[in-house]
Amino acid sequence: MACRLYEGKAHAASYWKYRISPSEHLMKQVLNFCEGHRGGPFELAVDVGCGSGQGTLLLAKHFASVVGTDVSPAQIEMALQHAKQPNVTYRLCAAEELPFADSSADLVTAMSAFHWFDRPRFLLETHRVLKPRGCLALVNYTLDMELSYSDCCSHTLNQICREFYAALHPYRNPILGPNSIYLYKEAFEAIPYPNKEWQECVWDRTSMPLSSYMGLVESFSSYQALLRDDPQKAQKLSEDVCQR
Ligand SMILES: C[S@@+](CC[C@H](N)C(=O)[O-])C[C@H]1O[C@@H](n2cnc3c(N)ncnc32)[C@H](O)[C@@H]1O
Repeated sequence: MACRLYEGKAHAASYWKYRISPSEHLMKQVLNFCEGHRGGPFELAVDVGCGSGQGTLLLAKHFASVVGTDVSPAQIEMALQHAKQPNVTYRLCAAEELPFADSSADLVTAMSAFHWFDRPRFLLETHRVLKPRGCLALVNYTLDMELSYSDCCSHTLNQICREFYAALHPYRNPILGPNSIYLYKEAFEAIPYPNKEWQECVWDRTSMPLSSYMGLVESFSSYQALLRDDPQKAQKLSEDVCQR
C-alpha cells in the first residue's frame, strides 16, 4: 500500500531548501551501470517521487529528456518553480500509474521515495515503462550521518544528534522499520532481474550551517509526525538541540 506524506506546501518548500541531493559520485555509479548494461545514447529518464526535483535536475545533462513525477501537487509546484533546464519536465501522477508508453524509459529512479510507494505495483509499472535492458535505480539515505565541526567537539555533536533521533524514534513511520536498509535489501533480493548491483553504503561529505542540518532533520517524516502530533514539543526539541 502506498503511503502519502510530504503533501503540505510548507513541507515541499523545506524540501527544496534543505534536502540533500545524491552526490555526483553516486549519480555516476548509476550512470555507469546504465552505460555498461544498456549503453547510450540515453533518451528518457523518469525520476519517480521526485519531490521538489533536486535529484531530477542532476539527470538533465545525461538524458535527452528527464521527467520528474510526484503524487503531491505541492511538491510538483515547487519543482516547477526551480525548473531551469529545457529538457526537464514534471508530471503529477502516482508511482503506481506512470503516464509513459511501454518500453520508453532508459532509466527509472526513485530517490528517498521507493519506501513510500505500493512497491509491488510500482515495480510492475517500472518494468512496463523500461526499455529492454533499461535500468532501475532505488536510492535512499539513512540516519547514519556523522557530524564534524572543525577539529573539535565532533563526539559531543554526534551524541546530541543521536539523542535527537532517539526522541524522534517513536514518531518513525512503521513502514520504514528499524532501518530502511532492510526494506531495500529485501526488495533488491526479490527483484528478479539477472543483472543487479547492491551498494550498501556510499558515503558523501557535505558542509552546511547548523540551520540547514536542523532543516534537514525537520523535513524527515518522523519530525513532521511529531509536529502534527504536538507542535510545541517539536519546537522545544529543536530549540534544545540548537542550544546544546
Ligand atoms: C522523501 S520524498 C523524496 C523526494 C526527492 N526524490 C528527494 O530525493 O528529495 C518522497 C517523495 O515521494 C512522493 N511520493 C510518495 N508516495 C508516492 C506515490 N505513491 N507516488 C508518487 N510519489 C509519491 C512524495 O510526495 C515525496 O515528494
